[in-house]
Amino acid sequence: MLTAAARGRARSATKGGARVAKAAKVLILNGPNLNMLGMRQPEIYGAATLADIKAACESRAKDLGLAVECRQSNSEGELVGWIQAARGTMQGVIINPGAYSHTSVAILDALLIAELPIVEVHLSNIHQREEFRHHSYVSKAAQGVICGFGARGYIMALEALASQLAESQEA
Ligand code: DQA
Repeated sequence: MLTAAARGRARSATKGGARVAKAAKVLILNGPNLNMLGMRQPEIYGAATLADIKAACESRAKDLGLAVECRQSNSEGELVGWIQAARGTMQGVIINPGAYSHTSVAILDALLIAELPIVEVHLSNIHQREEFRHHSYVSKAAQGVICGFGARGYIMALEALASQLAESQEA
């Protein structure tokens, strides 16, 4: 027999995400070259621009009871600074580190310091691509990784975080 809370969770899961009761803030970070989405190798990364992705995330976040802050940088240091600032001020991080996924111990360390639920997103399926893209340092800090679903991956990440935050608020 399911409890009322578990029934609610199961219902929400079928709708693709539980609504968070208490306001929660999620930082959505994009790394280098993701500001070029739309014109950057659309056969790999799709036609959506970063502005399209931001708008879709803001709209879905509203339904889920989340507030999102979307930032992009081509600089590793700037990304590290934003991750550091997320500790204690945000309730979760969604990050597509771009090429830094495959090189950056500094971003990994910052994410470990943040002590937040982290979802790593890649538009492309990095495991189907060149071998140097198969390893991500960031995955070590991520609770989960979503790759290969294009721009929808960010929405999937928001839904995953929302159901997790809803569950921890119930507990
Ligand atoms: C990417 C995959 C990375 O290998 C690449 O360097 C990117 C984008 C993706 O979203 O598929 O910049 O993170």
